[in-house]
Amino acid sequence: MPIRSDGKRYFLEGNQTAYVLAVRNDKLVEHLYWGPKLPLDTDYPQADRNPSFAFENPQGLIPLEYPAWGGLRFSEPCLKVEFSNGCRDTRLVFEEAAILPRDEAGQPHLVIRLADTAYPLRVELHYRLYEALDIVERWAVVSNVATAESAGSAGTALEPGVIRLEQVFSACWHLPAGTPYCLTHLAGRWGGETQLRHDLLSEGKKVLESRRGATSHQANPWSALTPAGAAVGIDLAAAGTPVPPWPELGRPTGEEDGAVWYGALAWSGNWKIVVETTPYAQTQVLTGINDFDTVITLMPGEKFTTPACVAGYTEGGFGSMSRTLHRYQLRHVLPPASARQLRPVLYNSWEATHFAVNEQQQMKLADKAAQLGVELFVVDDGWFGRRQNDRAGLGDWYVNPEKFPRGLGPLIDHVHRLGMKFGLWVEPEMVNPDSDLYRQHPDWVLHFPARPRTESRYQLVLNLARPDVRQFILDFMDRLLSENPIDFIKWDMNRHLSEPGWPDEPPEHQREIWIRYGEGLYQVWDELRARHPKVLWESCSGGGGRVDLGILRRADQVWTSDNTDPFDRLFIQEGYSYAYSPKAMVSWVTDSPHWGNQRASSLRYRFHVAMSGTLGIGANLNHWSPAEMEEARALVAQYKAIRHLVQEGNLYRLISPRAGELAALQYVNEDAKEAVLFVYLHSRKRLWPVPPIHLRGLSPERVYSLETEEGRLQGPRRISGRALMACGLSLNLQGDFDSVMVRLKAE
Ligand code: DGJ
Repeated sequence: MPIRSDGKRYFLEGNQTAYVLAVRNDKLVEHLYWGPKLPLDTDYPQADRNPSFAFENPQGLIPLEYPAWGGLRFSEPCLKVEFSNGCRDTRLVFEEAAILPRDEAGQPHLVIRLADTAYPLRVELHYRLYEALDIVERWAVVSNVATAESAGSAGTALEPGVIRLEQVFSACWHLPAGTPYCLTHLAGRWGGETQLRHDLLSEGKKVLESRRGATSHQANPWSALTPAGAAVGIDLAAAGTPVPPWPELGRPTGEEDGAVWYGALAWSGNWKIVVETTPYAQTQVLTGINDFDTVITLMPGEKFTTPACVAGYTEGGFGSMSRTLHRYQLRHVLPPASARQLRPVLYNSWEATHFAVNEQQQMKLADKAAQLGVELFVVDDGWFGRRQNDRAGLGDWYVNPEKFPRGLGPLIDHVHRLGMKFGLWVEPEMVNPDSDLYRQHPDWVLHFPARPRTESRYQLVLNLARPDVRQFILDFMDRLLSENPIDFIKWDMNRHLSEPGWPDEPPEHQREIWIRYGEGLYQVWDELRARHPKVLWESCSGGGGRVDLGILRRADQVWTSDNTDPFDRLFIQEGYSYAYSPKAMVSWVTDSPHWGNQRASSLRYRFHVAMSGTLGIGANLNHWSPAEMEEARALVAQYKAIRHLVQEGNLYRLISPRAGELAALQYVNEDAKEAVLFVYLHSRKRLWPVPPIHLRGLSPERVYSLETEEGRLQGPRRISGRALMACGLSLNLQGDFDSVMVRLKAE
């Protein structure tokens, strides 16, 4: 049984790892263990440990599975509430547990029910185990269980009124205490998303968060912790970290070896990850919706379900962590209808034509795209309303009659006749003040009375918490998809939320807007997907501003960044790949020199970078010479031959672009019979020879035949897996921004 209990402790055992909690004698639910699976139940810690330090109450130091604020507890809680009599102290104790051998997702599931000792508050903790992947999904359901009867029970402490939730996280994850940790996370900005950061933690909190109403480019709701020290090459003593006198520092964590505790949150609104190290070298990670400016008011009988978060442990380093997260997304996160389909090679018009789209010009681009082997032709911004630039049109979702006098029909037919699918860009959450929609419904946007409505990119945000706004979006999207045979939607969001007012709502519910907006967005996507099951969906937010496990339950793929420069992309895509699957990562080949930084690179280099995810082309094909068209056609064909490996195989990051002048990525299929290798040379310096590239994940006993461009291989075309891994593969690369792709097939 992957989930079992000995009456006191609850064991969640995956193939390699275990997560153990217990109900203490005082009925608190204590976290006991998270790490490698151990042979005997007696190997795992026993419950009822009481850490004791002077000037501390042991109860405040017990690692609780779902700490609520109350008593002498000073570390970050998961839950902070206020009862209607003003009481703000919460005491949650165990009430009951249920083990479901299979839940609605087909996985083993543990539910722990907690109850407040005096007030009508209940909390259900949910644990869904993915045994084969060694990961656990957690969420909490917080209920106000006051009833009409309890309202009459005068003389008790029960208050039948509202409960205000001021902080309600999805989970608290405890790491083994007594060891300093290093936090790996993703930081960035528009055009530079998902940059890897390693921070050494000492006492206090590191907060990763978004207060922008969306996932954000600036931070991402994913994190990983590793034993500190050699992993980041830091001298702990010199850094003055909270190393107690008995440290077990553990092995350094690398790409393929070492301990990693990691997790991510399935939420696209304001989120928060608090990583806290107490003065007693206890480290905990709290994950959930952001408490900033958020209060949820639960009336009697109401409940709130947090978004799910997922976490796992591996001893196989960051590589194993990423492969597990990718597999989890392919099997359990991406919309099931299309999760198993290979993503089509797409063309997108944005960089070629910006807002100036029209029927003739798009047909011409479609002709060229089809010659390259493109499978999906996407018309980006500019096709609707009075949209000539970003100052007008958002909200008026009718086809622009000057640009498309015959509607979208002839273009879609043309694209379909060329054998491609047709896709369209939309930005449904937004409105330009210069639009008919805003003139009709100025009250539909987020705003506070008598305060300015701050514009960004000349647009305001529609309040998706409002049912009439959601209905408007559903209606126009439904019409668009019903009246036109559209196969793909790119859903964009080009600003973050400000003045999050909801004046029509009773004041006690107005601060729920941060959550209701996100839930409203999900409702609309879910409904549209249900009504139009064959359509593929891409999430975009000014590039990679909305990439998270919540949107990936609805979107088949995401636009990774507006920065399409291939060299910059190596870094953005590397960080992305730590947390998210290459199948969902769209990468375009665009024009050179790049519009953003004027860096020039070869067509082959641009393709090789984009081919390490879901390939797209975003260049102005009218400017490509016949020779470039021919080269691109061959590269698209090569991508189609290897995309099953990139999109569904196991990714090995052989050499990080951060490590020096070289980067290498390898994708291997499940049975290790096929692989593809991409090597990128940033710049050949001081005539150093390119070192052999050591491959991974191959079968040592097999012999592989290698296929690549003429003149690239320095050795034979047949090499054993053992030699490829032990001795490496020597390749010829030269100059600046050179690249090579090698296919490997077992004989
Ligand atoms: C931002 C997106 O990231 C771009 O790809 C493009 O769709 C523009 N918006 C259009 O306004």
